[in-house]
Amino acid sequence: MKERMIVAVDGPAGSGKSSVSREVALRLGLTYIDSGALYRAVTWFYLEQRHGPLDASIDFGRELGAIALTQEFLPDGSSVTAVNGTDVSASIRDEAITKNIGVVSDAVPVRNFVNSLLRRWSSSRSIIMDGRDIGTVVFPDADVKIYLDASVDVRALRRIKEYGEMGKTLDENAVKNLIIQRDSQDKSRPFGRLVRAEDAICIDTSEMTRDGVIEEICRIILEQSATEPTPRERQ
Ligand code: CDP
Ligand code: CDP
Repeated sequence: MKERMIVAVDGPAGSGKSSVSREVALRLGLTYIDSGALYRAVTWFYLEQRHGPLDASIDFGRELGAIALTQEFLPDGSSVTAVNGTDVSASIRDEAITKNIGVVSDAVPVRNFVNSLLRRWSSSRSIIMDGRDIGTVVFPDADVKIYLDASVDVRALRRIKEYGEMGKTLDENAVKNLIIQRDSQDKSRPFGRLVRAEDAICIDTSEMTRDGVIEEICRIILEQSATEPTPRERQ
């Protein structure tokens, strides 16, 4: 393995980015960074403040100075994300966050704020980071870029199963519609939109097991780490 590896994993909601990246990190000794959790944490902060739905008229840049975000990747593969010292790891998964996150992620000051944290946290260690714009905006010179995809139907079923395991029953059509809506929002935002980087390796995971995807990504990373220096390393 090279001294410092940057692995970018992008793709739509439910394509398997987070669960797969966490396990790859554990197997290869990388630190996993969950960029989506930071957008969720900023959304949590504004929802706490406003006690109501967020909309595009809010100046999301104004209070970013009052938000201190931290994230720790634990040896069991989980992450702890905190806002001003409060552990929000569980609350940022609430539906209210998912419903309101679009307008927050659209705000350019929020994106700049999150991106500079992500770069700072990655400056002195090998990382695997997942999100929407990691290989295009955050680390355009990443050593390895992966784009994970899967059909809407498969992604919806995965979400339903995931929630089912937590004892929650979700309506299939409602989940599908939310995924379609979030895909469209993620793919159409003016800055940092979800798009496959030209040099990303695309893996359609619709018919693949989680373990199959993990093994494939580990293989790609190990292969890349044994090859020529990347543009970033030459700088
Ligand atoms: O886990 P899931 O796929 O539901 O989403 P996530 O990775 O937690 O990201 C939640 C939301 O944050 C996305 O729908 C985007 O609106 C935003 N996001 C973003 O704009 N850029 C990123 N690099 C990561 C997430
Ligand atoms: O982070 P993202 O929203 O892209 O997806 P995730 O949260 O990692 O995965 C969503 C669900 O799909 C999880 O319950 C995974 O265990 C599951 N999954 C799967 O069934 N098969 C895969 N190949 C990848 C993920």
